[in-house]
Amino acid sequence: MNKGKFYGVGVGPGDPRLLTLRAVEVLQSVDIVAIPKSRLDRESVAWEIAREHCRAETKLLELEMPMTSDQDVLLEAWRAGAEAVLSRLNQGLKVAFITIGDPSLYSTYSHLLQFLRPELAPEQIETVPGISAMSAAAARIHEPLALGDEPLLILPGTDNLERFLDLPNLVILKVSRTLPEVKASLEDSERKAVLFTRIGQTGEDIRTLDDLDPSGKIDYLSLLLVKMGGKQ
Ligand SMILES: C[S@@+](CC[C@H](N)C(=O)[O-])C[C@H]1O[C@@H](n2cnc3c(N)ncnc32)[C@H](O)[C@@H]1O
Repeated sequence: MNKGKFYGVGVGPGDPRLLTLRAVEVLQSVDIVAIPKSRLDRESVAWEIAREHCRAETKLLELEMPMTSDQDVLLEAWRAGAEAVLSRLNQGLKVAFITIGDPSLYSTYSHLLQFLRPELAPEQIETVPGISAMSAAAARIHEPLALGDEPLLILPGTDNLERFLDLPNLVILKVSRTLPEVKASLEDSERKAVLFTRIGQTGEDIRTLDDLDPSGKIDYLSLLLVKMGGKQ
């Protein structure tokens, strides 16, 4: 059978100029761009970033990937998404699944691949790395994520930051989930914490935790860099 090819393409954090040359090459060559959406009636940030690099005739395949911690709902969404992709691959088509930042860091791409890998030959899969949001954030303030022998810890939100505060460099992704707890943990610590929202996108915002509005609510597309070295 004429087998297709599946690509996981990192489209970077927001600025359409921060895609790799390989990502653009793949987007221009595929038959279908698969777009993860939290709800089908919502816009996709990944598509907003990628669209200018795609051919007008490229078909889109929208995949609903709900934002939930319900494992049964998630498993079903990944399974259905993988099935929709596989049926196109089995027609010999090339499908690029686009994902914000880098596909190897907290991306639905890895879950889809879990379902697809047993069905595909190794040469039918290509993962195209992307610039992660944390790299873009560090670049915006000209700070290293880590230097010399220092470790760097990446956390997916946390309500127990105290146990990591001895480390020199922390990145907290998905920080909107636990911002009040994170803020409280940092209150009396001599740490420099910078909150980045929608880096490279409309509405980009960079601020300290002291500058939050009273509701404490922030956009899901926000991350916190925390470093030793005194409050900013
Ligand atoms: C599911 S993770 C995806 C990470 C992504 N794969 C990466 O490499 O950056 C989503 C989290 O990434 C962070 N994020 C993604 N894009 C961002 C942006 N443009 N600005 C700030 N944070 C962003 C936020 O912490 C968000 O909650």
